[in-house]
Amino acid sequence: MPRVPAYFDAFLGAIAQGAAIDHVHLGYWDEPDAVGPSQARAGFGRAQARLSEHLIAMLDLQPGDRVLDVGCGFGGTLHAICRTHPGVMPFGINIDARQLRVCLRSDAAAANAAWVAADACRLPFADAAFDRLLCVEAAFHFASRSAFFAEAHRVLPRGGVLVMSDFVLARPPLPPGTIAAFADRLEADFGPWPALWTSLDEIRCNAERAGFALGMTDATAHVRPSYHTIAPDDRAELSGGVVLRELHRLGCLRYLHLRLDRR
Ligand SMILES: C[S@@+](CC[C@H](N)C(=O)[O-])C[C@H]1O[C@@H](n2cnc3c(N)ncnc32)[C@H](O)[C@@H]1O
Repeated sequence: MPRVPAYFDAFLGAIAQGAAIDHVHLGYWDEPDAVGPSQARAGFGRAQARLSEHLIAMLDLQPGDRVLDVGCGFGGTLHAICRTHPGVMPFGINIDARQLRVCLRSDAAAANAAWVAADACRLPFADAAFDRLLCVEAAFHFASRSAFFAEAHRVLPRGGVLVMSDFVLARPPLPPGTIAAFADRLEADFGPWPALWTSLDEIRCNAERAGFALGMTDATAHVRPSYHTIAPDDRAELSGGVVLRELHRLGCLRYLHLRLDRR
C-alpha cells in the first residue's frame, strides 16, 4: 500500500483546530514579478485557487462530463469545478481516507461528488469510466508516473483528457553530498517522491508510450512567489521548501501544466 505523505498530518491537525484549507499546492500569479513577499503571503490562498482555475480551463469541461480528480487533497479543485460547472459528475480519489472525510464538508454545489479511497496507480474504476481526469500536484508522489498514465489511459475513452500539474526536477550541478542532502530533505518533508530527478523528455516518453499526446504550458515563473510562504527568506535551516526554492533559483525546477489527450 503506498505511503500517505507525512506532511498531511500537520494540515489535518490544523483543520481539526478549525483552519479552513482548500488547496495543498503552489500558487499561480499572473504577474509574479510585481508581487512582494508580504503581498505573496497574503495572497497565497487566492493564488492557489488561481492555479486550479488554470488547470480547470485546460480540461474543456462539458455538461455531463464524468470528472475524476486523482490525489484530490481536501477537494478544493473539485469543489471549484462543482461551482463553475454544475452539470458535471464529480469524483475524487485519494490514498488518505482522512483527507476524504474533509472533502465531505458541507458544500451544496458538491453534494453529488463521490469520494473514493484508492491508489492512483490502481484505479478501482471500469475502462472508459471518465471523460476528464485531473491531477493537481500529486503525480510526483505516485509509485510511478508511467503506471499512473497507463491507468489514466484505461479509464478514459478515446478523445478523453488528463490535465495535471507536476514538478520536474533536474539533478543540480552541485557536489554529490549537497545533492544527497537535498534529496533526503525532499523525501523527509514532501515524500514519497520515488522518481525525484526526471525530465520533460522522460515524462513525454512515458505519456506517449501509454497512448497520449502531450501538450505543455510552463508555469514555473508564475509559481515563484509561493516560496515566500513555503520557504520564507529568513529561514536558515534546510527544509523541503528551501530545497525547492534553491532548485528553482538554479533553473533545476520546472512547474508544468500538462494536458494529455488520449489517442
Ligand atoms: C500535494 S497534495 C495535492 C492535493 C490536491 N490535488 C491539491 O492540489 O490540493 C498531493 C495529494 O496526493 C495524494 N496522494 C499521494 N499519493 C497518492 C496515491 N498513490 N494515490 C492517490 N493519491 C495520492 C496525497 O494524499 C495528497 O492529497
